[in-house]
Amino acid sequence: MRVSRDELKDLIKTKLHKAGLKEEHADVAADVLTFADERGIHSHGAIRVEYYAERIAKGGMNVNPDFKFEKTGPATGVFHGDGGNGHTAAKLAMDEAIKMAKESGVAIIGVKDISHSGAISYFTNQAASADLIGFSVCQSDPMVVPFGGAEPYYGTNPIAFAAPSSDGRMITLDMATTVQAWGKILHARSKNESIPNTWAVDGNGEPTTDPLKVNALLPISGPKGYGLAMMVDVLSGILLGLPFGNKVSSMYEDLSAYRKLGQLHIVINPAFFTGLTSFKNDITQSMEDLNQIKPAPGFSKVLYPGQNNDVVIENYKENGIEIVDDIYEYLKSDVIHNNQYDHKNPFAE
Ligand code: NAI
Repeated sequence: MRVSRDELKDLIKTKLHKAGLKEEHADVAADVLTFADERGIHSHGAIRVEYYAERIAKGGMNVNPDFKFEKTGPATGVFHGDGGNGHTAAKLAMDEAIKMAKESGVAIIGVKDISHSGAISYFTNQAASADLIGFSVCQSDPMVVPFGGAEPYYGTNPIAFAAPSSDGRMITLDMATTVQAWGKILHARSKNESIPNTWAVDGNGEPTTDPLKVNALLPISGPKGYGLAMMVDVLSGILLGLPFGNKVSSMYEDLSAYRKLGQLHIVINPAFFTGLTSFKNDITQSMEDLNQIKPAPGFSKVLYPGQNNDVVIENYKENGIEIVDDIYEYLKSDVIHNNQYDHKNPFAE
């Protein structure tokens, strides 16, 4: 099924609002989810709506949060999310970081006590759209084996980075610190597809190709990905005084309790370093250099990070955004949720 951006955003917003989220928060959440689907990041798009709707309906997301921004130093602050919608809190916190970095050259802002915030390049791209460098990391629920371990400790703890070019494009890196995001396993399940044996392990710690047998994900590049996940947990958890490691709340354990997740935004203003024009020109040059690199056998072109998503957006502008039929049917229906996620082992079907 292919749908326009407007229709998809509207369907998601309506469902989340009907589940109980206030309209302006449902609007931001729908924008972040549509942002993901239109870039081909389907693991963090409409596939998540029913889970969010169930959590909202069961009281596990504060629908009337007392969002507060606390400036803690010349270039630092904490955004208190009060158990509210993560997409909205992270977006508002990035708005504060942008203002601060415009004045101070840099901003480091923690976002505390929030629910899941989705594809986090949404927030770094806010900064790049304002001629700033955006960096963001966040916690997610423990489902990744530490290097050498047989049971999960860290989450898929993603890292995103975005920088503006001189021609309106941006370079964007947005990645889980696992070989694949958990949402990719969900996507494979929804399409009845097998997964490569490098993504995850089963209950015995053995690599598996069956998305239904997954019991933990593998970090990227062994100890290096494991180390990056540790860094993300320190910056977005321990630094903000939040639960960390395997004490981070699970996505599905109790859908009536707030999640208390953490995220950290760092924004750097190039005007305080080499100068904005020089910075943006050089980013454009490096994008062009990368595109000119001789491709390896089997590749037609070297893409700059994020260019794969830009290609998808262009395709969707012409042909609509591709959505799994069942998800579209759910979005169009009057059903708020089918009671699928509460108290479920995240690895269960
Ligand atoms: P991915 O593996 O699809 O892409 C990772 C990066 O590689 C992206 O920046 C992408 O642009 C780049 N890339 C991919 N193919 C490329 C190519 N051919 N040439 C150049 N660059 C290329 O991403 P992953 O790790 O599956 O993450 C998906 C999403 O999951 C992200 O948006 C992330 O923020 C989100 N996520 C969110 C979590 C949360 O708790 N909020 C937890 C984990 C992931």
